[in-house]
Amino acid sequence: MTQSILTRQAAPADRLPDSQPLYRQLADQYRRAIGSGVLRPGDRMPSMRAFMQRHGVSLATATESYRVLERDALIDARPRAGYFVRVPPTAALPAASEPDLATLPGAAQFVGIHSVISSIVSTFQRYPDALNLGGATASPDLYPTDALQKAALRALRKRPTLLTAAGHDQGDPALRAIIARRALDAGIQIGADDIIMTHGGIEAVNLALRAVTQPGDTVAVESPCFFGLLQALESLGLRALEIPASPTTGLAIEALAFALHTHPDIKAVVVVPNLQNPLGSVMPDTHKARLVELCAQAGIPLIEDDPYRELADAAQPPRSLKAWDTDGTVIHCTSFNKVLAPGMRVGWINGGRWHPRIGMLKFAQSRHNEQLSQVVLAEFLETNAYERHLRRLRDRLRLQRERMAAAIATSFPDGTRFTPPRGGMFFWIELPRDMSSTVFFKAVLDEGIRVMPGTMFSNGGRFDHFIRLSSPSTDLDLADEAVRRLGRLAARMAAHPD
Ligand SMILES: Cc1ncc(COP(=O)(O)O)c(C=O)c1O
Repeated sequence: MTQSILTRQAAPADRLPDSQPLYRQLADQYRRAIGSGVLRPGDRMPSMRAFMQRHGVSLATATESYRVLERDALIDARPRAGYFVRVPPTAALPAASEPDLATLPGAAQFVGIHSVISSIVSTFQRYPDALNLGGATASPDLYPTDALQKAALRALRKRPTLLTAAGHDQGDPALRAIIARRALDAGIQIGADDIIMTHGGIEAVNLALRAVTQPGDTVAVESPCFFGLLQALESLGLRALEIPASPTTGLAIEALAFALHTHPDIKAVVVVPNLQNPLGSVMPDTHKARLVELCAQAGIPLIEDDPYRELADAAQPPRSLKAWDTDGTVIHCTSFNKVLAPGMRVGWINGGRWHPRIGMLKFAQSRHNEQLSQVVLAEFLETNAYERHLRRLRDRLRLQRERMAAAIATSFPDGTRFTPPRGGMFFWIELPRDMSSTVFFKAVLDEGIRVMPGTMFSNGGRFDHFIRLSSPSTDLDLADEAVRRLGRLAARMAAHPD
């Protein structure tokens, strides 16, 4: 019976054998469908029009049925998106532990992460068909493939020498002008000339580090920290000083203040303020203001790595650290790879006080970015297609997160903790204390699933009982089932740690 309401086109109302009012009978059918799992947390409910057609009822009856389901906390309305089966509160699992500020930071270390990462990557390569729940971009079909393809063809038609004429050293001027206008949304006031286009965010961060440090210097980073940054530090011969970060508010500002006091050799601070990788945390505005002030007072460059800001849940995306910068202390690095087109690898940097030096380093290192991607991006950003795409992507990622959170909460063993992220695609999951993610990630690869072990996110092997999961799959049922398989395996391993 519950199955039938999801599939049949029209069920004339007068055939329903029940003495209750019709709206209540229909609400009860959907209640049963939700209760039995036919409709699952995060599933989209039929639109009002579809509901009316499917059940042969009036708008008043359909509205009343939805009102009953909403009142009983079974479905939620989302602005401009419709009704969805409510995701049960994920507080079923306790929040991830807050960092212990008493024990950190220790001594700055030369980074030795390449060998750890190489070994993990070569293990992954042996399982090319594994379902990837470890990536840092969304699935390609969540990006506007057709629109970008058409923009590329238009760009080539309009500018026949696009592939053969050299471009501007700093990057396409029209694109930089559009980016400067859009940066106002992040609270950043800069002109087109204050922007240098880069090969993704990672080139921007590398350039920033090279501009303000010398080999052997110490750089303060968040702990846990995006492993690509640790690799960059290692390749530049820099030491990392890991400063604890909270799963809710990001970098612990007071721990950094303490470190600046006790480690006068810190030459730069690198922070991901919005949707930190892997934590998913967003720094509150008060922390952002304090952090910028702290670095400005100490005369230390603050490198802001901000590729995920536009994936945050808030109706108004959070602001960047750069919004609080009054004297060029903040070097802002970002990219379109996570939000729009991972294949185009377009990023940009504003170098604050070090902008001219960064321009010189970029010229010396790789000359200007290739032009086609930039012109395509400029075309796309000029229209409101980008805003529409972002809204869809955020909605879709939220649905994936809700489904995933529900699957984690119901299938992982006692002792598992996580703090639901504030947007984006990462879940930083704290496994029961005596579980090793190094053992776990290999075991789940045998089951055909790829996850990121926590050891990749610190130089000191601190996070061996954490994993980073991401939800890039468009097949939500497949992702759900995979998460449940992970949970069952974790439960078996937690029960038999040896
Ligand atoms: C925090 C952070 N910074 C930078 C990057 C690299 O960005 P891009 O792919 O634009 O080079 C990543 C990618 O995972 C990231 O998570």
